[in-house]
Amino acid sequence: MVMASELPAPDAHERAHSEALAGLIRREIAAAGGAIPFSRFMELCLYAPGLGYYSAGLHKFGAGGDFVTAPEVSPLFGRCLALACAAVLAATGGGDILEFGAGSGRLAVDMLDELDALGSLPGHYYILERSAELRARQQDMLRARLPRLHERVVWLEQLPAPGFRGVMLGNEVLDAMAVERFRWNGQQAELFQVMDTVDGFGWQLRGAADAGIEAAIARIAGECELAEGYISEFSASLQPWLHSVTERLADGMLLLIDYGYPRREYYHAQRSSGTLMCHYRQRAHTDPLRWPGLQDITAHVDFTAVAEAAVAGGLAVCGYATQAHFLLDCGLDRLLQDAMVNLDEVAYLRLAQQAKTLILPGEMGERFQCIGLTRGLDIDVPGFRMQDLRHRL
Ligand SMILES: C[S@@+](CC[C@H](N)C(=O)[O-])C[C@H]1O[C@@H](n2cnc3c(N)ncnc32)[C@H](O)[C@@H]1O
Repeated sequence: MVMASELPAPDAHERAHSEALAGLIRREIAAAGGAIPFSRFMELCLYAPGLGYYSAGLHKFGAGGDFVTAPEVSPLFGRCLALACAAVLAATGGGDILEFGAGSGRLAVDMLDELDALGSLPGHYYILERSAELRARQQDMLRARLPRLHERVVWLEQLPAPGFRGVMLGNEVLDAMAVERFRWNGQQAELFQVMDTVDGFGWQLRGAADAGIEAAIARIAGECELAEGYISEFSASLQPWLHSVTERLADGMLLLIDYGYPRREYYHAQRSSGTLMCHYRQRAHTDPLRWPGLQDITAHVDFTAVAEAAVAGGLAVCGYATQAHFLLDCGLDRLLQDAMVNLDEVAYLRLAQQAKTLILPGEMGERFQCIGLTRGLDIDVPGFRMQDLRHRL
């Protein structure tokens, strides 16, 4: 983690881009009477059409980008997920895959390649992506890397109709949804608002205008015994999003992978300034008001909230495990053994190094968690047989 003041300076083109988005945000702040909720600020920073971090053509994922996600680390990640999906698709008697927020398209390429090798291709591989720019990038990637299967991939404009059978999945999608930032004052939540100051954007606190958000944070404060002055985040969009997704899933699994914690760990006394994090050119820092549109803004995921919303929608939590245990249970070590036989030494060592990044506790292995949410599925899903952390939710 670095201080925001130590970040590399953006070039003139980036500054102009950020200034255009800042202008749009300032106008919205003025129209709102002087301040907007942080969740709205974050939403604009990430998704304002043509200007937001995910909507504009910045280089975000992988080597040289701002951060590296598991599919960009190694094809082993997608191949392991494919092994889990193949088992679910066999149990549901076929069906489709729907990936939310497919980033560069890497995961889709690796999964489809492996599912093809397993003879377990889905009817369709759907992608639902918020960013038009990323969608175009995914289409280029699929066309170039997997021309033989490109026709199976269909980009959706909205969620499919109810009755979906198969697997829905999202890697690092929940952490990219806008959150409220709050301060617990001992009695109630005060929500951070963003205002326009002579020195750029600044903070203001205001009581929650939404009774639902106020009640949800009060419940967290009671359950987790928040001290006065405790600062954290709350995702008001998580529950409605999961509601609309789970009501579409008729038979199969929703698999979500992200960094996060069960609620009691999320809102632990030691995490008293929250989990909000920004990424700019592979440096992490905690000032989301800096350079709007040029940096990723993200918050950890409350996996207890994910499980609660899914159960309310009639789904069962079939498993909750660290990414390391999930990948190992899917057969990561067997894939590596095969690679030792089939690849030359240099290629094998490269793959083994990638596997370490995916599973070592100090890397992605324990920071990232996997949760499996099922309807009508009566199998032990690969990925969740080795470790069962559901009691911590
Ligand atoms: C951190 S990136 C992860 C990308 C990719 N899954 C990966 O692992 O490399 C977050 C992605 O989620 C997308 N996203 C965020 N909210 C979404 C939503 N409600 N529906 C679909 N995609 C969404 C973003 O546009 C972006 O592609």
